[in-house]
Amino acid sequence: MSLASFVQRMPKAELHLHLEGAVSASTFAELAARNGVALPAGKPVAELYSYGNLQDFLKVYDLVCASIRTADDFSRVTFETLERCALGGARYVEMFFSPHAHLAHGVAYATMLDGILDGFRRAKERYGLVAKLIPAHAKPLGVEGGERFLDMVLAERPAEVIGIGFDYDERPNPPPMFAGIVERARAAGLNVTNHAGEDGPADYVRDSVDVLGLGRVDHGYHVVDDPALVEHCRERNIVFTCCPTTTLTTTVWRNLAAPDHAIRRMIEAGLNVTIHTDDPAMFGTTLDREYALVAENFGLSPQALKTIALAGLQAAWLDDGVKQAWI
Ligand code: ADE
Ligand code: ZN
Repeated sequence: MSLASFVQRMPKAELHLHLEGAVSASTFAELAARNGVALPAGKPVAELYSYGNLQDFLKVYDLVCASIRTADDFSRVTFETLERCALGGARYVEMFFSPHAHLAHGVAYATMLDGILDGFRRAKERYGLVAKLIPAHAKPLGVEGGERFLDMVLAERPAEVIGIGFDYDERPNPPPMFAGIVERARAAGLNVTNHAGEDGPADYVRDSVDVLGLGRVDHGYHVVDDPALVEHCRERNIVFTCCPTTTLTTTVWRNLAAPDHAIRRMIEAGLNVTIHTDDPAMFGTTLDREYALVAENFGLSPQALKTIALAGLQAAWLDDGVKQAWI
């Protein structure tokens, strides 16, 4: 069996995927035209998704967000996203989305939820794929913005909403700023995760674990800069949701084949690394491709890939009983 079909067939959990980053360039172009969003001048559709760093990427990401306006738009992009996950062998998806970027264009939170949950229902019916939702707070909107974000999430809370995340630029928004929001979310029964150590320092990974008390960190690559922190995270079995292709644009590790690539070092150090796509359409990848990339570039055996896939399923924010049915 080829590596591609082995990784495609292996049951996998997608735990780090942003809905808006999963919108194909052609759907983006179509929705933008329909909803009156101007695309970058002079760029053919095929070149819309190219960027040199995280900040460039986030500008295009915001445009994609702006192009999604109606409940039908949300349902469509959700279904298309989950369809690609299912075809890549995902059995379960935890999906981030960015409410602030839609509120900015007058879209009600209820409209977002209606459309996304309709997309979930259709994907479940068609592919048997189970999906959950993680509204994410954009850290540059600060603490007050974050408190309002959490109020909104708690006021209208379908069962599919299982946690909150924090994303966008890490600097100058260190994790301790958000400790009060994390505490309130947790007290309300929500899980919490934070993007840290992608282009921010190892300290932000440590603060996510020690100050915010998180068991999951999105990306986390700069943990490798601090051997004591690596050991601390290994002992505590912190889950790092890593996204290989993203690193080629947003981090200092731009060569997956290099022996010092952060994800390779994290795996070699025995950290609990899981593999995901982040923004699959915007970074031109799929879940099965990300697994194939780590296998090829890090020289991982099929058994090592299975261990990573199992770690992903085990890290899902689900009851153990539900997880056991898959594992
Ligand atoms: N939002 C979507 N993708 C992101 C990334 N890689 N880093 C921070 N925020 C994001
Ligand atoms: Zn992300």
